[in-house]
Amino acid sequence: MAELTVCPVEELPPGAMKLVHAGEIAVGIYNIDGEYFALEDRCSHDDGPLVEGDWEPDRAVVICPRHGATFDIRSGRALTLPAYLPVETFPVRVVDGLVKVDVT
Ligand code: FES
Repeated sequence: MAELTVCPVEELPPGAMKLVHAGEIAVGIYNIDGEYFALEDRCSHDDGPLVEGDWEPDRAVVICPRHGATFDIRSGRALTLPAYLPVETFPVRVVDGLVKVDVT
């Protein structure tokens, strides 16, 4: 298991996202209404830098900056074309006030 410390909880309030790198992969950690979710920063359509796109905390949706596909941040599910496959998600937990993501 490769668990990465993202940051203290104070640095990732509701409505915020933080991008972290774990070896070859990049992961975006989102705080949506106090719940944390992590998505790989790689669009399933054409490997674009997904989490660097705009996102809507109210709908928990991220928009790929390359061709505009949208994904459900909670599940990684593709919501609109041109993407149709889900993106990788990772478990997030809080330990002693630190946000951690398991990238295995
Ligand atoms: S790379 Fe994301 S929609 Fe094309």
